[in-house]
Amino acid sequence: MSEVYPWPHKDLLDVSQLSVDEIMHLLDTARSFHEVNRRPVKKVPTLKGKTIMLFFAENSTRTKTSFDVAGKRLSADTHALGKSGSSIQKGESLKDTALTLQAMRPDVVVLRDASSGAAQFLADRLHCSVVNAGDGWHAHPTQALLDAFSLREAWNGAFEGKTLLILGDMAHSRVARSGANLFSRLGVRLRFCAPRTLLPAGKHLWPGEFFSDLNEAVRGVDAVMCLRLQLERQQAGLLPDLRDYSARYCLTMRHLELANPGVRVLHPGPMNRGLEIASDIADSPASLVLDQVEAGVAVRMAVLYLCATRAEQTANL
Ligand code: CP
Repeated sequence: MSEVYPWPHKDLLDVSQLSVDEIMHLLDTARSFHEVNRRPVKKVPTLKGKTIMLFFAENSTRTKTSFDVAGKRLSADTHALGKSGSSIQKGESLKDTALTLQAMRPDVVVLRDASSGAAQFLADRLHCSVVNAGDGWHAHPTQALLDAFSLREAWNGAFEGKTLLILGDMAHSRVARSGANLFSRLGVRLRFCAPRTLLPAGKHLWPGEFFSDLNEAVRGVDAVMCLRLQLERQQAGLLPDLRDYSARYCLTMRHLELANPGVRVLHPGPMNRGLEIASDIADSPASLVLDQVEAGVAVRMAVLYLCATRAEQTANL
């Protein structure tokens, strides 16, 4: 690792708590771990002796696996617990579950929960670091950071002057909320496009321009972030017809022809192919979907490293 940097944060709850300097330091740290991840031997002793608990009370493939891989590549001991199989199913509260995990003296608890504010709730009660792996509709900070990492690589380090369109289910999206905050502060111009029923509450507070017509929204953009249509969070009646939604808001090659040359496409996953993103785009050279997954391991290594060694970093100064 390069210079010693006094990381001030016990927890990572959302990107809004990070300064732009801290975001860039985290992305630089992730870059060195990205290089480690491409070596034949992908393990470093950085967090040897540290314990990381992964508590995922909502389903996850990418985030849960990549935090687990990240911890193991740093030589930490990782332990995963899901809602099903835990005593939450017997009625134990989130607080008692967390205090139980804390009694085993972990250094970091990584939490995914369906309730907005769950990570803050734990951070206020636990001595160890709490990392938010997605809480309800509120925030998904490591997703925003890995998206920034992926676009920084694709754009050769330049964020200023680029335009990013965030497309789809804005109403239910923690990915859009964290991403909009992060990219606007990095100097990226933002556009948002969704049907009226999937616009977020308080849209005047969002840092960008809203569109309802995808053909207008995509004109001249440098990247499009497609959001997953969160069918499990839809309230009855928000979308009268999924075929109509896909006809209007599914990103296709025809739309990409209106964007800037070299346009890149992101999707946090899991994808509903043919609903919010055309299958041929997901598999095309424009797609950063698998780059995002690879970046996710490096970014989560950086987050775990910075949070778990915070006390040592400060003491060494
Ligand atoms: N992007 C994301 O959070 O994916 P998972 O739900 O699979 O973790």
